[in-house]
Amino acid sequence: MDKIVSLCKRRGFVFQASEIYGGLAGFYDYGPLGVELVNKIKAKWWRAVVTESDNIFGVDGAIIQNPKLWEASGHLAGFTDPLVDCRSCGTRHRADHLAGTDSADLNELKELLAEKACPTCGQKTLTEPRRYNMMMKTWVGPVEDESSLAYLRPETAGSIFTNYENVRDTMRAKLPFGIAQIGKAFRNEISPRDFIFRVRELEQMEMQYFIRPSEQEQEYKSWREFAWQFLIDTLGITEANLQWHEHAENERAHYAAVAHDIYFKFPFGFKELWGTHNRTDFDLSSHQRASSKDLSYYDDQSKESYLPYVIESSVGVGRLLLAVLVDAYREEVINGDKRIVLKLKPELAPYRMAVSPLLRNKPELVTKARDVYKAVKKKYGNVIWDDNGNIGKRYRRQDEIGTPQCITIDFQTLEDDTVTVRDRDTVKQERVRVGDLLA
Ligand code: GAP
Repeated sequence: MDKIVSLCKRRGFVFQASEIYGGLAGFYDYGPLGVELVNKIKAKWWRAVVTESDNIFGVDGAIIQNPKLWEASGHLAGFTDPLVDCRSCGTRHRADHLAGTDSADLNELKELLAEKACPTCGQKTLTEPRRYNMMMKTWVGPVEDESSLAYLRPETAGSIFTNYENVRDTMRAKLPFGIAQIGKAFRNEISPRDFIFRVRELEQMEMQYFIRPSEQEQEYKSWREFAWQFLIDTLGITEANLQWHEHAENERAHYAAVAHDIYFKFPFGFKELWGTHNRTDFDLSSHQRASSKDLSYYDDQSKESYLPYVIESSVGVGRLLLAVLVDAYREEVINGDKRIVLKLKPELAPYRMAVSPLLRNKPELVTKARDVYKAVKKKYGNVIWDDNGNIGKRYRRQDEIGTPQCITIDFQTLEDDTVTVRDRDTVKQERVRVGDLLA
């Protein structure tokens, strides 16, 4: 993990937020390469879920909503993690992490933690576990009191449920149909950890699929399959690094009747990456009750009115980025040289190509290389100019950021208009005509 964190910093994928002030636990910034990778991951997901679908529509909801939403959704009462305080040193810890369990049952945790010492000071002075609400608070307007209290959304799903009727009406949608959203969510995690794995400001890609209750098993299965295949086929993640984990009753969120996570093999173990949940009619019925608005659906096939069920697919963008990086990271020895290489799918790589003159102090090479650079950049967009250091160093740097192809302009280019194209994975070099690069 240290190697991944160091690569992320060294090459501009991820920086600590407010680093010059010592950072802030649980907050990160994406650098120039990170934001390219993040945007590509989001674009792939959006395309697969929204653009290529006939019946899934996108929304982009506000981060702050009427607090009644979070009361009705059960987050005010139920979006909690168990914590313990240390009476000696005052530190706070996630009780389930300390107990080494996925269970959130307070009695079970109390037993498991009975003899545990505080991991910070080593004293056996931990309080009994209690529940702690993870929603971040703010105040809307100039007066900071109970009446202006609001929450930063803990999941993007909230505004999907409250817009269910709006989207159904405006898109004249019939069941089954879905609503998808990509956006920031906030959780006041007790112990943010493992770099960008568990953070306090995260981005989610969520899709709620509204269905007839009779379709729940089949749709649940198909959305589980979607997530698995997306990871493998679209993001190029190695199947052996994935496994299924079914939530036991004491792990499930308050809204979920059934939940399956895909776990990814992070350097710190197999951990949750992507959740599929059967939320039944929990949310629509809660919002219907709390808002007194009729949210039922009239089914003109069965001639009945009912509340649709919801299958949810939910994944964190930062976790996906971390999984993609971990999966692609290799250390290799090629022809006696050690190299680090990110074997990213070419279409995810922050740069599709790098263009270099063989020597940076030969104006005729530089001029020709600039022309080639301009032409390929116009065609492919994300192409980088690299004339720093010698050619071997440039290749190593591009390998480290996953650039699939490096194009070098040398003396032969000036004679026959061919360049060398070096492949990241095989390190083989081929001579290609400049015209063919564009074709
Ligand atoms: N709407 C359902 C929901 O939010 P969740 O399991 O709490 O379910 C879904 O979160 C996904 O969001 C997780 O599988 C994970 O990828 C990501 N996620 C959740 N909490 C996170 C955190 N603190 N830091 C980074 N990603 C997180």
